[in-house]
Amino acid sequence: MDVVSVFYQSHAGSWAFLILFFLISYFAAGQKITLMLQRLFAVIMIISGVGMIVAYGFPLVYILKGVLALVLIAVMEMLIGKKKRKQSHGGLWIACIVLAALVIMLGFGVIG
Ligand code: HEM
Repeated sequence: MDVVSVFYQSHAGSWAFLILFFLISYFAAGQKITLMLQRLFAVIMIISGVGMIVAYGFPLVYILKGVLALVLIAVMEMLIGKKKRKQSHGGLWIACIVLAALVIMLGFGVIG
């Protein structure tokens, strides 16, 4: 198996886990294990995503997708932090859902 398909398979197999662990971290706060797993999967997504972008020769839609995905990962962190600090964060949920929809649709080629 070549290195590009290793990146692709890890990416395709990990994104749902990132979202799942984020949701558990947010809604089942008070434990730390899923936050660690969320961050581990965020790192896997970034490394495999950047790996594919390099291997594909920097296509513009995927660069845009990567940037939106980085913002999405940051928004997930902010949601966890703001909930913990009891700060209001209703608007961030809208950003999170819109960004997740865009990133997944760009990933599957539904848009872009
Ligand atoms: C929140 C993090 C992310 C999520 C939820 C996500 C989601 C997805 C999904 C669902 C796909 C389609 C996979 C498939 O075909 O089965 C995909 C593909 C892709 N993603 Fe991501 N992604 C994320 C982060 C990133 C990052 C950070 C980059 C780049 C820096 C990136 C670059 C790519 C590329 C280049 C593809 C194209 C794969 C292909 O069709 O050959 N992704 N992503």
